[in-house]
Amino acid sequence: MRSYLFTALLASGGFAAREFLNEPDTGIDDVLKDLPKGTLPNLSDIIGLPDFDWAARHYLPTKNYTYYRNGAAGEWSYRNNLEVFHRYRLRPRVMVDITKIESTLPTTILGHNFSAPIFISPCARGAYGHQEGELNLLKGAAAGNILYMPALLASYTIEEIAAAKAEGQVVFQQLYLSSNDTETQDLLDRSKAAGANAIVFTVDSAADGNRHRAARYGVGSADSEYTYITWDYYKKVSTMTDLPVILKGIMTVDDAKLAVKNKVPAIILSNHGGRQLDGSPSSLEVAIEIHEKAPEVFKQIEVYADGGVRYGADVLKLLSLGVKAVGLGRPFMFANVFGTKGIEKAIQIIKHEIAIDAANLGVGNLDKIDPSYVQWTPNNWMG
Ligand SMILES: Cc1cc2nc3c(=O)[nH]c(=O)nc-3n(C[C@H](O)[C@H](O)[C@H](O)COP(=O)(O)O)c2cc1C
Repeated sequence: MRSYLFTALLASGGFAAREFLNEPDTGIDDVLKDLPKGTLPNLSDIIGLPDFDWAARHYLPTKNYTYYRNGAAGEWSYRNNLEVFHRYRLRPRVMVDITKIESTLPTTILGHNFSAPIFISPCARGAYGHQEGELNLLKGAAAGNILYMPALLASYTIEEIAAAKAEGQVVFQQLYLSSNDTETQDLLDRSKAAGANAIVFTVDSAADGNRHRAARYGVGSADSEYTYITWDYYKKVSTMTDLPVILKGIMTVDDAKLAVKNKVPAIILSNHGGRQLDGSPSSLEVAIEIHEKAPEVFKQIEVYADGGVRYGADVLKLLSLGVKAVGLGRPFMFANVFGTKGIEKAIQIIKHEIAIDAANLGVGNLDKIDPSYVQWTPNNWMG
């Protein structure tokens, strides 16, 4: 009987691993099958965030698209960032008044007011997607009233981006810092002079990222140095500026606890979109680890997270654990092929999805979401 079952399963493909889908098939290929390569679809054809990936791949030179799409080595962490969300089922509650959910999206990030608990993560080389590069991201963020974190390695300088800010617009400046104190002081001072409200110090890139896909097109990581990044160095940096210095790229509960101990005001759980170290955990897995081993961290400092977030429900899973705000990188870089209008649409899509998914989850107030809305035992969806 057993061997019959085994044979039947094999014949039915029951043991076949589920294929990885960069964008799950929701029909865009069928609807836009006649669109010539190198042309943009209409913005109205974009229904969800994964469609921006499709549009950018269809439209951009392969080299430019590859720089954005790339993950480290075999890209297992890149794929895991996307797939991990589906291993945890939601536990929707019904018979709850959810009619005011939209009014509960606004939140604060380090004390600054925004329309939703989302932000644009820092990504280098905005001009690979659109000649106005980061200026579109900045303007889109202002229009949607969400936080933008410009990258140091942007296509425009810190000063050029600052000059395009809307009145009173809050930005957190991302920096890579080295042990060269003169350079570090200069970057901190330039950020302050440009009006940045906080520094995002990226700490997950102590060495070059192992980027096979991008290297084929000559767009791999250019940073070949080993960088001195230690807690002592953090202490020193935080005395070199009066801006809050938050850490981006925390990947374990151990380092989250050390961040609290070292009085870091906020951390971003991130594996750099799976671009640095293949095998590193997704931010959802790190948030679960903190939830299980040191949940007090979520109360002691502000914890943000990014990586693989493409749907409203992904955001909700992170928020339910105590994450205060969720970042998206590639979706905005891909949306930028449509310019500022693309960024605005991406923000509108994710905000709408957060609201309707929360409502269908039975969450009437986003502030009240908690871990009970998710089944934290992973399901076997891959099998
Ligand atoms: C094209 C690209 C460039 C990036 N450049 C930087 C960077 O300069 N500094 C940084 O801290 N993170 C950088 N990141 C990582 C993002 O800030 C963010 O962690 C990541 O994109 C989140 O994953 P997602 O793209 O799946 O949303 C980059 C990511 C991409 C896709």
